[in-house]
Amino acid sequence: MDYRTGAMPGGRIQPTKTPWFGPLDQGVMMKEKMKIAVIASGRGSNFRALALACREEGYPAEVALLISDNPDAGALEFARENGIESAVIDCGPKRGSMSLESSETMYGLCLERGIELVCLAGFMRIVKGKILDEYAGRMLNIHPALLPSFKGLHGQQQALDYGVKYTGCTVHFVDAGVDTGPIIIQKIVSVLQDDSEESLSKRILAEEHIAYPEAVRLYAGGAVKTEGRRVLISDE
Ligand code: GRF
Repeated sequence: MDYRTGAMPGGRIQPTKTPWFGPLDQGVMMKEKMKIAVIASGRGSNFRALALACREEGYPAEVALLISDNPDAGALEFARENGIESAVIDCGPKRGSMSLESSETMYGLCLERGIELVCLAGFMRIVKGKILDEYAGRMLNIHPALLPSFKGLHGQQQALDYGVKYTGCTVHFVDAGVDTGPIIIQKIVSVLQDDSEESLSKRILAEEHIAYPEAVRLYAGGAVKTEGRRVLISDE
């Protein structure tokens, strides 16, 4: 997507988000929950946080699909236990990268299920191909650092090594780069003198579980608008 104009590749207009309305005075209920797919490679705690948020009354989105590239992902177990449809898609042998074929397969599945927003949550590959192109402006990621600092792997350790006093997490749109898309939400975490990668990651993760559901709530509620690299939130 062209973030300046909101135009989608191929000249399509970015679909309008259907707002969620709570109970109206007349007792009429108009609920159009946005269908989201989560893509996760590992334990899936952010997937879980999103799925739990979706159960809250008035939350404007529902997790309709979990995709993983790893048949042993903890995220799959949570999906099975909670009746969320899941799929394992082989993304190829190359570490950190996905095959173009798997990207097509993911896109096809998301299209079939009417997915309007794709949330990467610990997906350990750089997204490219069909799913990236077709979901441009409709794909989010969470990163365990305050971007644009400490992109890529081990953001928490990078923050410790650099000696910053504050780090945190970032929810951002996904573009073709690594952790480079426009920023929607950030949460700040203090770095303590005696922090290890593990202790810092734990405190950041707690903030991630707040930030991701919050970002999805804003996006699905139609409150997020991009102007160039800046993301404007209309209910702030
Ligand atoms: C999180 O720290 C997230 O920020 C990063 O990968 C980790 C995934 O954790 N992108 P989980 O699988 O959601 O528990």
